Amino acid sequence: MARKFFVGGNPTLNRSTALIKSLVAETLNTAKLDETVVVIAPPAVYLEKTRATANKNIGVAAQNVYYKEKGAYTGEISPAILKDVNVEWVILGHSERRQYFNESNEFVGEKTAFALENGLKVIPCVGEKLEHREAGKTMDIIFAQLKAIADNVKDWTNIVIAYEPVWAIGTGKVATPEQAQEVHAGIRKWLADNVSAEVAENTRIIYGGSVNAKNAGALSKEKDIDGFLVGGASLKPEFVNIINARL
Ligand code: G3H
Repeated sequence: MARKFFVGGNPTLNRSTALIKSLVAETLNTAKLDETVVVIAPPAVYLEKTRATANKNIGVAAQNVYYKEKGAYTGEISPAILKDVNVEWVILGHSERRQYFNESNEFVGEKTAFALENGLKVIPCVGEKLEHREAGKTMDIIFAQLKAIADNVKDWTNIVIAYEPVWAIGTGKVATPEQAQEVHAGIRKWLADNVSAEVAENTRIIYGGSVNAKNAGALSKEKDIDGFLVGGASLKPEFVNIINARL
């Protein structure tokens, strides 16, 4: 099964009224979606409006979700609530959530399983900090993050893994195509060795960290890079060029 190119936009904590109006309604709705899956992840309060505005072939993702169905968890959102407003996807374990909200590998693994079991598709994020890379620990960090997911998840059909080196996020320092390919190939081999050959072959592994219209083309040519998770550039018209990077 060929892995369909996948591009997610994550505007993080940014007011998104303009994004929905101009980018989603006018620009994204004109993107060529035959060859590429496109998913946009606005802050939670904009999800419903985005779902109503976006072409039905564009997916909508939350930036996070909790792992309880309901109850006294003030401030949290459940998969059931997302499904209630027709949101199909969620990003989990973004490095900002790991760093600022102390989300552990195990917590991300449990949330991933709960979201999948409750009908969402999940983009779990993995990635190393600069100090890990400099200490030669990149793959150890990523394998520990993957293991916590694999320990909790039985069915990988609805998972798209995002590799986001923390040192590349929002810094303008994109990983080179060779650096990204090396990690993506390592993730795929880990899946083959620890989950199954089929999951390794079919699971999309997308790259995130300072992707823009200029560097997306070269990154997209690497054989294990199946798309992108885009932050800053997802707020700009060049997002469409990133979506079309492989065409
Ligand atoms: O989820 C998206 C990433 O954190 C990438 O952000 O493209 O602004 O570096 P960036």
